[in-house]
Amino acid sequence: MTASNTIQPDISVNLAGLKLANPTMTCSGTGGYAFEYADFMDLSKLGAFVTKSITREYRPGNEPSRIVEVRAGMLNAIGLANVGLKRFLDEKVPELKRMPCPVIVNVAGHSFDDYVETVGAVQALDCVAGVELNVSCPNVKDGLTFGTHAGRLRELTAAVKNVIPGKPLIVKLSPNVEDITATARAAVEGGADILSLVNTFTAMAIDIYKRRPRLANVTGGLSGPAIKPIALHLVSRVYRNVAKSANVPIIGMGGIQYWQDAVEFILAGASGVAVGTALFVDPATPNKICEGLVDYMQKMKVQKLADLVGALELPGDQPKAAPYP
Ligand SMILES: Cc1cc2nc3c(=O)[nH]c(=O)nc-3n(C[C@H](O)[C@H](O)[C@H](O)COP(=O)(O)O)c2cc1C
Repeated sequence: MTASNTIQPDISVNLAGLKLANPTMTCSGTGGYAFEYADFMDLSKLGAFVTKSITREYRPGNEPSRIVEVRAGMLNAIGLANVGLKRFLDEKVPELKRMPCPVIVNVAGHSFDDYVETVGAVQALDCVAGVELNVSCPNVKDGLTFGTHAGRLRELTAAVKNVIPGKPLIVKLSPNVEDITATARAAVEGGADILSLVNTFTAMAIDIYKRRPRLANVTGGLSGPAIKPIALHLVSRVYRNVAKSANVPIIGMGGIQYWQDAVEFILAGASGVAVGTALFVDPATPNKICEGLVDYMQKMKVQKLADLVGALELPGDQPKAAPYP
């Protein structure tokens, strides 16, 4: 094939009305509030930028040590350190208005009121294309984590959906549950427009000389390549059992580092792919993933990325036309 007749694949995506030039995003908490990575990645080539979790009140987060490197990944127990809603609106939003790509604000809270007030305030901003809910937080009233209890998650999603009428609501699922399809279904029933998965896996590391946990918080969230195969499996399950039939797009994340990882998530059912821990190794990872996707689609003669979403064939599936060139 000559350069002149090589097709330019279409890698744009439409996530419940949220139109992105490509499927790549940052994972919340790994790319700062706005321009922190501007010197190291081309932000204009991101499908979307996802902010650090914002809470109604300022949070200093946990005591150090709150980050530990482990084999094939890292543990973090940052504890949702963030400037709080007021300073976010005063100091960070003017920056976000200048972002050269769509912006999604991630919101966390410890009560229904926390979430409803914070989402209500950020969704009204013109520079905000959508809101992602971090539901891996314990409720102040009963200590139960919102994202691990299907009934609670359904109620929370419905309450928040009420205050975000015109923009997509993304619910970010925790993997620390017995059956992720139950919480995925609850989020969809509550009105989630998009599901994102997964958040980090609860884990720990021990200093064998001090005989103490390496994190002051004792446990933290495991992320990075170590979790990729598990995250992929969870995306595939949620896609097949909940999202596909409900027509709710998935943003896949968990250990994505190379374009091949992104292709795997897309074949498993993700329409968008977010990069977190890999940004600490190479902030340009999302840009490189786009280049790899285009090459792969050209080689495989796939014109539209949407045609790859969920194209994984499992035993027992109706065979699809072989996508080989
Ligand atoms: C240092 C760090 C901070 C994080 N902070 C947040 C956060 O504030 N809100 C959130 O929803 N997820 C947070 N996460 C989870 C990531 O957004 C993502 O779900 C997870 O790390 C899996 O993706 P990865 O393996 O590509 O990092 C954080 C992850 C890391 C490593």
